[in-house]
Amino acid sequence: MTIHISNQMPELVAIRHHLHQHPELGLSEFKTSDFIADQLAGMGYEVTRGLAKTGLVATLRNGTSDRSVGIRADIDALPIHEETGAAHASKTEGLMHACGHDGHTTMLLGAAKLLAERRNFDGTIHLIFQPAEENFGGARMMIEDGLFERFPCDAVFALHNDPGLPFGQIFVREGPIMAAVDECRIVVNGRGGHGAEPQATADPIVTGASIIMALQTVVSRNLHPLEPAVVTVGAFHAGQASNVIPERAEMLLTIRSFDPEVRNTLEKRIRSIAEGQAASYGMSVSLEYERGYDPTVNHKAETDFVRDVAKRVVGDTAVREVPRPMMGSEDFAYMLAERPGSYFFLGTARTENDPPLHHPRFDFNDEALPIGASLWVELAETWLAAR
Ligand code: NI
Repeated sequence: MTIHISNQMPELVAIRHHLHQHPELGLSEFKTSDFIADQLAGMGYEVTRGLAKTGLVATLRNGTSDRSVGIRADIDALPIHEETGAAHASKTEGLMHACGHDGHTTMLLGAAKLLAERRNFDGTIHLIFQPAEENFGGARMMIEDGLFERFPCDAVFALHNDPGLPFGQIFVREGPIMAAVDECRIVVNGRGGHGAEPQATADPIVTGASIIMALQTVVSRNLHPLEPAVVTVGAFHAGQASNVIPERAEMLLTIRSFDPEVRNTLEKRIRSIAEGQAASYGMSVSLEYERGYDPTVNHKAETDFVRDVAKRVVGDTAVREVPRPMMGSEDFAYMLAERPGSYFFLGTARTENDPPLHHPRFDFNDEALPIGASLWVELAETWLAAR
């Protein structure tokens, strides 16, 4: 086991709790960005700000090699009302770090300090503090702002904490690991009226219900049984009273997939079902379909590299394989589309029943801070080992 950082624990916890108390939404991480820059000041990094508005890149060079490595932490929070009751709970009503990005940022800052103190590498380290993972695709925006031209990286790496995985274990996977996500809003345009006179109306609730049921056949009847995909209707809004037929019904869908052809089939079938079902009831739909993040696909050599490094940090038996791709999504996908690299998970469970990510009672497990920070130190130093 190579835990470099346990003596920095109180400092890391203080940083994590400060970030947790001051959550900010994607592209509004102004104070977070200032705080990160303050933390890095004096360590010897060249800090570049303003990529994707609130993003930062901290660059440290050592020796003569032109090799380089990028490590990314996401820094944004979520619009969730915190219910942890923790002393370090969010001080901003309605916002909280419910995905542990406060922990990701802290682990990278902890690694930053040690990498700078040790200077045990030959080449260039770029620490990428990325905004807006949860909503606006901060990774893509940083790339559009010239991330990899201005800060060339031979490879990029990122991790996510997972309170559902055993504490201190690292889960890796070669190839696809996180899904593509698309969103769809369907509005059924009906004709409202009295609930006792349905024959004089065009009832959008009945049509909406029919659309929802028919959508269940997209994955089960239109895709190969071994193709991973999800179509979820997560919201259905219509009507307010028992005796009133409303004018319209609205549905919000999330759609997950990996294969580009499957992704196209899903859109085609959802459009066709919504329009066809509505037409069969003499109604129409207004449909907005928006492509979100692409699938996150890990590169083989870099995943093998993470596996080896992780074994040295947490031990052979604590490095496991993610058994199958996850249907969540992640904008690190865009960095992996530009550069080789790997995205992996760090198990942070406290109990068998921790609140999951995005839950109002979720709170990043501080005990994992030295593990993640040590892992980044080991990874950067190994990638840039003097040869
Ligand atoms: Ni997250």
